[in-house]
Amino acid sequence: MNSYIPEDKIEEIKSRANIVDLVSEYVTLKKAGRNFVGLCPFHKEKTPSFTVNSEKQIFYCFGCGEGGNIFTFLMKINNISFSEAVRNLAGKLGVVIATRHISANEKKSLSIREGLKQVNLAAAGYFSKNLFSEAGRPVREYLKKRGLKDSVIKEFNLGYAANEWTNLGDFFKRENISLKLVEEAGLIIPRKSGGFYDRFRGRLIFPIEDIGGNIVAFGGRILGDGEPKYLNSPESPIYVKGKNLYGLNRTKDDIRKNDYVILVEGYFDLLSLRNSGIFSVVATLGTAVTRDHVDLIRRYTRNLVVMFDPDEGGISAIERSLKLFLEGNLHTKVVVLPDGHDPDEYAKKLGREGLSEAVAHSQSMVDYYIEEIMGSRKTFEDNLDLTEAAISFISSIGDVIQRNLFIKRVSEKLNIDQELLKRETNRKPKPRTDLKEDVSGKWKSEKVDALELSFIHMMLEYPHKLPEIANGGILDYFTSEDLKRLGNILKQSYGKNGDISASDIVSGLEDGALKKRLLKLIMSESPYDVTVVDKIFADLAKRIKQKWYKKKHIRLKRELIKAQEMDDRKSCSMLLVEKQRLLTEEREKVF
Ligand code: GTP
Ligand code: MN
Repeated sequence: MNSYIPEDKIEEIKSRANIVDLVSEYVTLKKAGRNFVGLCPFHKEKTPSFTVNSEKQIFYCFGCGEGGNIFTFLMKINNISFSEAVRNLAGKLGVVIATRHISANEKKSLSIREGLKQVNLAAAGYFSKNLFSEAGRPVREYLKKRGLKDSVIKEFNLGYAANEWTNLGDFFKRENISLKLVEEAGLIIPRKSGGFYDRFRGRLIFPIEDIGGNIVAFGGRILGDGEPKYLNSPESPIYVKGKNLYGLNRTKDDIRKNDYVILVEGYFDLLSLRNSGIFSVVATLGTAVTRDHVDLIRRYTRNLVVMFDPDEGGISAIERSLKLFLEGNLHTKVVVLPDGHDPDEYAKKLGREGLSEAVAHSQSMVDYYIEEIMGSRKTFEDNLDLTEAAISFISSIGDVIQRNLFIKRVSEKLNIDQELLKRETNRKPKPRTDLKEDVSGKWKSEKVDALELSFIHMMLEYPHKLPEIANGGILDYFTSEDLKRLGNILKQSYGKNGDISASDIVSGLEDGALKKRLLKLIMSESPYDVTVVDKIFADLAKRIKQKWYKKKHIRLKRELIKAQEMDDRKSCSMLLVEKQRLLTEEREKVF
């Protein structure tokens, strides 16, 4: 799978990377004993069960069972391949990997994605240079008029595409960059008569970054009047609509620090809030909120403040997004904007202090929904419609606690019997949830011997004991082939470099029961005091052996019964001899 990335490079990356820092880019971690814990980015949860161990460089979620090392984490969270994860980290840490090791296929898809990012980066540079050139003066005036500070303009790398047909295309031609790639990035559009023309003309340019800081697309606002007001890059291998939040890469640290985020719709809303000193903000860019948005936000905070314009027929939007926020376990509040204001104007009017005040006094979105939206309809017919709507709404709330709370509130508000409402909502099919089945049930059905697992855990915790263990031959008594194999790997690796890492062992295992249980052990159990380690090793070894002999005895007994039933004297006496031998051996080896 990874043969084309030299092992020593992977080692170098592992030695330089720190899993706590890496995970912290996505999850807010708090120190808890020897581990760090946070809310799992791979499933919905309210109390942190996502655990990171810095000493061993591994992570494990007690809730959903995801676990592994730095590479596994990147692969899962960004949905990328192993080699992409390695390259990603290599880039970050300054480890150079020669490209000739990449397989042809991998190289193609990698190089397209990389190529598109490069193209976008170059285009952003071009647009920015334009903005600060003589030609960009009116645009700079415009930005000034709208109150944006230079620091914000620079931070968000704004740019300008002049109102010409082939400026950007010509730029890429001069730079000798493949126009095919520039076309795939959506920056130029082929003409029927041959050649290309620029997509963005006469527009203020907003580069859109993913959370890795790569420019994945652009938005362009028309200068003055005209249609469309905003133009975006089309989707591409690096840009899928509804998967990014504008500004998040720049604001995520503040979001984590302040532990809340304000959600707005527009580029200017985001910039304007940032401009007035409210830093924890992201923008959806005019599209409906998606599950991906919610998942992204939850990586940094669970406290969301939506700036909501009640005039904009936004009630169905609020219904739709509230469902997602509830399903995603986000605590959502609403700042209701005074009529006609958008967050940009509101921020300018109130300033930092006023905005903070408004956020602090914002109403919970559930309350807002029940009080203002449900409460605003008064007639009997309205009430019927509302009950229908409420039932459909409640049915979509995945979280049981949230759902019951909502049922209680709605039954009060609409004056409907709570039990009735509960029954009705339960009749509707439950929504799909991303939450995985409780995996512990599955583990039991797969054969991983608990004693043997503990022994392996001890081998990992106290590698200096490995030589002794190797001589003891205890691994021969293991009944789980996987664990035996693991034990032998540990034994051998000790001889080689004197050190073994849990991270290596864990990453070498396939996803499954064994990996999960091992991770769980490594994360949960505090190491024993050195004075009792020997005793524990001895005790475990004894019990493993006992178990092994017990199994042998049971098997012998079964064979004996069979032989007796078939009146097979010869087998019977042989089995009896064997039984005696086994008993003697057990006495010698175990006691
Ligand atoms: P200003 O009007 O300059 O203050 O920009 P704004 O960011 O406040 O825009 P507005 O409130 O009109 O719209 C909010 C967001 O919806 C914008 O930032 C865009 O992302 C998106 N949007 C608005 N109009 C269009 C459009 O015509 N096309 C597309 N694709 N998106 C749009
Ligand atoms: Mn606006």
